[in-house]
Amino acid sequence: MALTSLQTLNTFALAASADDYLAISELSQLKERLPLQQSFLVLGGGSNMLFCQPYQGLVLHNQLLGIEHWQDENHYYFKVAGGENWHEFVMYCAEREIGGLENLALIPGSVGAAPVQNIGAYGVELADICQQVMAIDLLTGEEVIFSHQACQFAYRESVFKAKRHYFIHHVVFKLPKAWTPILDYGELKAWAKDCDSEISPLSVANEVIAVRNNKLPDPAELPNVGSFFKNPVVSKPQAMALLSEYPQMPQYDVGDEVKLAAGWLIDQLGLKGYQIGGASVHQRQALVLVNTDNATSQDVVSLATYIIERVLATYGVELEPEVNVIANGGYSSLAQLVEEQHV
Ligand code: EPU
Repeated sequence: MALTSLQTLNTFALAASADDYLAISELSQLKERLPLQQSFLVLGGGSNMLFCQPYQGLVLHNQLLGIEHWQDENHYYFKVAGGENWHEFVMYCAEREIGGLENLALIPGSVGAAPVQNIGAYGVELADICQQVMAIDLLTGEEVIFSHQACQFAYRESVFKAKRHYFIHHVVFKLPKAWTPILDYGELKAWAKDCDSEISPLSVANEVIAVRNNKLPDPAELPNVGSFFKNPVVSKPQAMALLSEYPQMPQYDVGDEVKLAAGWLIDQLGLKGYQIGGASVHQRQALVLVNTDNATSQDVVSLATYIIERVLATYGVELEPEVNVIANGGYSSLAQLVEEQHV
């Protein structure tokens, strides 16, 4: 069987391959293979994947396109196919002065992948605007429609991430006609204060693009997968102890717990620019690891493991990758890879 290269299909640009590959531009192409009897992996824009081993299974590449929309008295609705590019959909709405998605401009990836890790930025999460997710259960072949509640959204989590056997073919968004810009994030707040012209979905989207371009590397120029780690959530007593030792440490209350800024923790260790093989910590955002020089997955895993160890030793906080770690059997973890010496 001919292997399919995935190197151009993951934004880390790591050499990777799959035993079997199916590009799905019509749902019927998927349905005729169901239920699947082999290992499978659903791929969208490949912007959150770390391929560590050749994938010994079937990669299903979501390339479904199409946007339908309707409205009622108070809301706009968009039913968007999973293979649509996320940023293009954000701009499609912003250019029509339909608000709600603009804070999520320039996030790499596809619409179908967006609910899986509940993408978020600058005070907005996909969960805030997602009404419904339409999927196929690849194990049974059944159509499943997930209400907002059934999606079980949490910080970078969802039912689709917990159970990896759904192929998301459409996402339905519900956007209020009465738009309220969300400008609490420091740089957006400062921009809005000094803005002489009217604030609109498009102007906010353009400002978000400027903010992101200022610190986040463009995967097309410097391959990366955005934030490599999740921001860790710790107990209030642990957060208070850390704050007394590090008074400058950014902390954000989330219910009974406290979220820390992983980028700050890594930055304070002086690791910006730190390199192992061809992989390094981005110079302007320490939460982002970049492929600077033909990195291998081993370089990335070694760098990530080193960062986790340093952060744990200094702050007693364990960083968890946000990226999906794929080893030959499917979804894996850095710890498992290191333990099994797969890399
Ligand atoms: N910080 C540093 N040094 C760094 C990076 C950050 O000191 O190198 C500090 C910042 O100054 C700030 C704090 O850490 O005080 C938080 O940084 P930032 O606002 O840049 O956001 P983040 O927590 O690093 C998260 C998301 C991003 C999202 C931004 C903006 C996660 C894992 N990441 O990053 O999402 O764009 O907030 O809302 O939650 C992504 O998921 O790929 C992603 C880029």
